[in-house]
Formats: sequence, C-alpha cells, structure tokens
Amino acid sequence: MNKIIFGDNLPILKNMESESIDLIYIDPPFNTGKTQSNTRIKVQKSNDGDRIGFQGNSYKTIAVETKQYMDSFGDEYIDGFLRPRLEEAFRLLSPRGTLYFHIDYREAHYCKIVLDNIFGRSSFINEIIWAYDFGGKAKSKWPTKHDNIFVYVKDPKNYVFNTHSIDREPYMAPGLVGPEKAQRGKLPTDTWWHTIVGTNSRERTGYPTQKPLGVINRIIQASSNLGDTVLDFFAGSGTVGESCIKFDREFILIDNNPAALEVMAKRFSGVANIEWIGFDPVPFSSVGNAHPIVTQPPANYDLLVSAASYLRNELEGEFGVWEDSPFQWTLVLPPAKKGKLGRNMIATWCAMKGFSVEKLGDPDASLLINGYRIATKFSTLWSGGLYKFQQVRDTGYDFVFCLGISPDQAHAWIFPREFALKNATIQHGGKKGTEYWITIKPAALPSWVLSYGGTLDQVSVVMKKLLPKRK
Ligand SMILES: C[S@@+](CC[C@H](N)C(=O)[O-])C[C@H]1O[C@@H](n2cnc3c(N)ncnc32)[C@H](O)[C@@H]1O
Repeated sequence: MNKIIFGDNLPILKNMESESIDLIYIDPPFNTGKTQSNTRIKVQKSNDGDRIGFQGNSYKTIAVETKQYMDSFGDEYIDGFLRPRLEEAFRLLSPRGTLYFHIDYREAHYCKIVLDNIFGRSSFINEIIWAYDFGGKAKSKWPTKHDNIFVYVKDPKNYVFNTHSIDREPYMAPGLVGPEKAQRGKLPTDTWWHTIVGTNSRERTGYPTQKPLGVINRIIQASSNLGDTVLDFFAGSGTVGESCIKFDREFILIDNNPAALEVMAKRFSGVANIEWIGFDPVPFSSVGNAHPIVTQPPANYDLLVSAASYLRNELEGEFGVWEDSPFQWTLVLPPAKKGKLGRNMIATWCAMKGFSVEKLGDPDASLLINGYRIATKFSTLWSGGLYKFQQVRDTGYDFVFCLGISPDQAHAWIFPREFALKNATIQHGGKKGTEYWITIKPAALPSWVLSYGGTLDQVSVVMKKLLPKRK
C-alpha cells in the first residue's frame, strides 16, 4: 500500500522498519539562506466555499497562520538536520538498496563527507550532474546551471542497477554513428541534460521546487524493480509518487509542509491505493475537475507494459558480452532479416571502397561486384567464439563473401567458390542441391583462411587482387 505522511520526517523514519526500503530519493531543502514562506490553512465545510471536495461538498479555505522558515540551518544544517536523517536512511535501506541524494553545488561537498561517514567511501557509486540551461544568467561568474545527485548503495558489491531499463538518449552527432545506432540512441552517462519543469509545462503542479519526472523516472527505472518500495522523505509535490505509479513501484512520501500535501492531494486525485496519514486529501482532490494532474492509463495495459519491461530486462541480460555493442539489436533478428542486413552492409561497404556493386536478388548470388557473382553470408559471433556461415550453396556464384560481427569488431573473408566448398562442412543435401556451412573461430584462425581476408582492411586488399574489374 502506498503511503503519504504529513509530519516532520525524523520521528517518522525512526519508527520505520530497518531494511524495509529498496530505493530512497531525497531532495532536501538546500541550505540557501533564503526565507521560505507558507501559509497554514484549514478547510471547513461551507455552502459558499471555494473548493469542491468529496461528493461535491463545498469547502472554505481559512488561513490559520503564515509560517516562514529559513531555508537555512547555519552550521546546524549538516550535523543537526541532515546527519540524523541520513543515518535513518542508511538503516532503512534493504541490502541491495540505493540512495539518491539531490543537492546544490554550495552544500554538495559538505554533504558528501557526511554521506561517506555513514555509508563508507566505497559505497559512493556516482555523482550525477543534472544540467539544464534555463532561466537568468549571472554576469559576474559562470552561471550555475546544474544540480548534483550523489548515488550511494548499501553494499557496493551487490546492488540493483538495471542498465537495460534505462531510457536511451539521442546521440549528439547522429550522422557519425549510422542510422541504426542513431535510432537506438545511447546509454546515458553521469551527466544528464534535462530541462527544468517550466512554467507552462504539462507536469507543473505549482510547487516551487518540483523536480522533473524525466530525471526521477530514470532513477526509479535504473535502481528499483517492479513492486519495490521507494521512499522520498522530502516529498514536496510528490514527483517520486507519480513515477512509482507509472512504473509499478510502491511509494512512501513524507513532507511537513501542508502546501506540499495539498499539491499531492490534487496530483493523486483518483489514485485509490494510497493511505494518507495525518492529512485528509479529500477537500483538495481535483476529482470531478476538468484537469486532474495524473491521468491513469488503463490498468491492464499498464500491467502488460511493466511485465514486458521486466522480461526485457531478463532477456536482454542474457546478451552478456554483447551488452553495449552497437550490434546487440541484430541478435534477435530472424534469419531472413539477418541475411538481408548482412547483404546490405556488404554492398554498402564494398561500394564505399570503390568496387562497382549491383544487387542481383538471385538466391545463389545476391550481388554483382566488379562483374563477379557474389554470394553473401553473415554471422554474429556464436557463444563458443565461432562464426557460422550457413546455407552456402554449391553452384551459381564465383565468390562467397563472409562477414562476421563480434561485439566490438568485424571480420570478413572472400573465398573462391571451389576453395570455400573444399573447406566447408556439408549442412544438408536437398532438392536445391547440397548446402554447406563454413565455421571460423576468429580467436584461433585456421590456416586456410589466412590469405583471404581477416580484418576489413585485409579483405579489401584481397578483393582488389581477386576481383579485377570486368564487364
Ligand atoms: C526541495 S523540496 C522537494 C521537492 C520534490 N523533490 C518535488 O519534486 O516536488 C524539499 C521538501 O522538503 C520538505 N521538508 C523540509 N524539512 C522537512 C522535514 N523536517 N520533514 C519533512 N519534510 C520536510 C519541504 O516542505 C519541501 O517540500
């Protein structure tokens, strides 16, 4: 059950069970020295009220007191305020749990020392720089346009980090990486460019320090699993809660500012499985209003999406050495598409190297290169470290071009037909004639392949010799 709790976080944290939380994200008030002001309000049922609540009842808002607090605790900030709360955070984290601590550059270094003290220096995993370029710019110094997010784990040898669930980013120069890679995007690094929640942004709640969902979503996906419990004890507008709803995590949100609770009551209007503790959200709920902030996707569809993203994680986890390879996506292609991809890569590469290339669309020979009929074969590296070029036919072409792709390199050979068949293994005989396969282990090359290629540079030298231009 999700929980939203009104109150000072320290005593609440102290009452929570040890190791019961999988992920903590906190964005405490920065020690900026500015005064924050908020007005405490009470709501009363009234016929001429300014708010519509449960069952269409009308409520009146009454200002009880205007409260100001300094967003500054002086020296007390680190040791008096943060330290005891961070000690609780450490105690609450499960053995594979992670803390994301969001802070600004003026406090970051002091906070890091406290966090090192509590978690141990080896538990410090990353400093994420959230960079934005928005708003006014100082003229007397480098304009500061970033926040720092420290990542600490309970156990640096064993923690949750779902590389494959992380949203990918566009390449800065997509033209340099080729269309497939450009379309797939790249894994983010520790520098995250993301715009702030703008005044006209759809996700804006009106809470002054609201953080963007894009930043929080990435944290939730990377460092928690389906059904895990996520805690934010400086919850503000409840961004962490919204992200947890999206990705099927449970959440506990704590804030001691009634204005934050009011914003969360609106934000989570219509979300049923939340227990509100110390605060009645009903008068502030926007159910029935035209613009509820959280639009609920259909529950069943959502369930399938999270089940699939969970499975994707498991399946892609099997790729092992292919992780982060620009060719990883080709592993799951069906054979016909793999064949087409190989043929097109060979055609493009040969054309770039200055050979004349024509596509034949003939099952025996797919390309005509410099006037020679070429069969093209493509293999990604098999788990035993082998390339297997399959369905090599016995007639209908002059040369067979074999392109092998490993996670971080490519190999290629060009063999005259008779020579290739002499060194191939019979795969099967059939109506279409006998088919063979050629196996090559790039880490232990057999001597018969040595004069026919190897690297892409080597194969292009061989091709110039074996395929002099002819009409
Ligand atoms: C920077 S804001 C968090 C904003 C939030 N990340 C978001 O996306 O909306 C910090 C919050 O911590 C709350 N806070 C400050 N001291 C607190 C305390 N002792 N207990 C609970 N909440 C506290 C403030 O009311 C404020 O809402």
